[in-house]
Amino acid sequence: MNDTMRASVLIEKGRIELETVPVPQVDRDQVLVEIAAVGVCGSDVHYFHEGRIGDFVVTAPMILGHEASGTIVAVGSEVSPDRIGERVAIEPQRACRVCEQCKHGRYNLCPFIEFYATPPIDGAFAQFQAIQADYAFPIPHSMSLEAAALCEPLSVGIWSNQKAGTGPGSRILITGAGPIGIVIAQVAKAFGATEIIVSDLAAERRAVALRFGATRVIDPLAEDVGTLGLEVDAFIDASGAAPAVRSGILAVKPAGRIVLVGMGADDVSLPVSRIQGRELILTGVFRYANTWPLAIELASSGRVDLDSLVTGRFGLSDVEGALAAAGNPATLKAIVEPGK
Ligand SMILES: NC(=O)c1ccc[n+]([C@@H]2O[C@H](COP(=O)([O-])OP(=O)(O)OC[C@H]3O[C@@H](n4cnc5c(N)ncnc54)[C@H](O)[C@@H]3O)[C@@H](O)[C@H]2O)c1
Ligand SMILES: [Zn+2]
Ligand SMILES: [Zn+2]
Repeated sequence: MNDTMRASVLIEKGRIELETVPVPQVDRDQVLVEIAAVGVCGSDVHYFHEGRIGDFVVTAPMILGHEASGTIVAVGSEVSPDRIGERVAIEPQRACRVCEQCKHGRYNLCPFIEFYATPPIDGAFAQFQAIQADYAFPIPHSMSLEAAALCEPLSVGIWSNQKAGTGPGSRILITGAGPIGIVIAQVAKAFGATEIIVSDLAAERRAVALRFGATRVIDPLAEDVGTLGLEVDAFIDASGAAPAVRSGILAVKPAGRIVLVGMGADDVSLPVSRIQGRELILTGVFRYANTWPLAIELASSGRVDLDSLVTGRFGLSDVEGALAAAGNPATLKAIVEPGK
């Protein structure tokens, strides 16, 4: 095997170049994956345009992309060579495994977490990437490698619904119908929710929500979810918009749950007396933990449709095109295919 590969490298904010770089080193407990498909995420677009997300700043060239799948082509010394050839979905994080949070199974909250495409860790817009063997999940033959890549955003949808306590008969309000809101709606349906109310400013996104499980859609400019008497069991914000968060809270019934997934509205004033008087439970979501087995099960059994989320495909030499597409509301998921 060559020891160099092609990778799309973010040199600095606004500048991406196709370069020849060393193939990642494979640690004892890792596998090397030949990357087949990588979903483009809003965070990739953000790093490209702004060079930072909050405290994470791009100070040296790095490779973006964290929604990835591919085929195992090499293994570390502690991993069975039988795994070579497996088609896998990658969970793109590496926790320390020994801190308090890791020991409780909440490894997404590990203070030492390394995550693909979060500076300084390289992501997967490249021919190869390494991952711990137990974070490379084999997928059934019936499942496409694109769907395998999209197990990453699906995992956000699963974790959000687990936090919301979604179950048979649940009534759920979701604000924001971007790719994340759409997977949240799909998982809510798969978990048995019977009412899935989705709001979005964009008519085209409301239309998409209806195709993916929403039972009702709301235009927040025409109707205020906070005054419609929705009385939902749980409200999940996937917009990151302050007005959506504030009005969504007013739609939750007593003892219901509020799950904040959307990022961007860092400081929002909250209806505290409402949260107190109704004993609402409010939590954030930071990615996910232990979701890949269920993600693969939901996708491969057809309970969730990931393939239909794909709206465009791009080669490694056109990551900029993929990032531009991902910033367009008509796009749901742009996919980068490093092998093509
Ligand atoms: N917490 C996490 O771990 C995690 C993981 C992934 C993504 N996210 C966040 O989730 C959010 C959604 O991601 P995405 O990729 O779907 O983003 P997106 O930008 O494609 O979608 C956001 C949607 O919200 C809509 N919106 C804006 N204001 C609204 C309002 N007032 N009411 C209803 N809808 C409104 C927009 O029209 C847009 O369609 C982002 O903020 C992203 O950063 C969080
Ligand atoms: Zn993402
Ligand atoms: Zn840890």
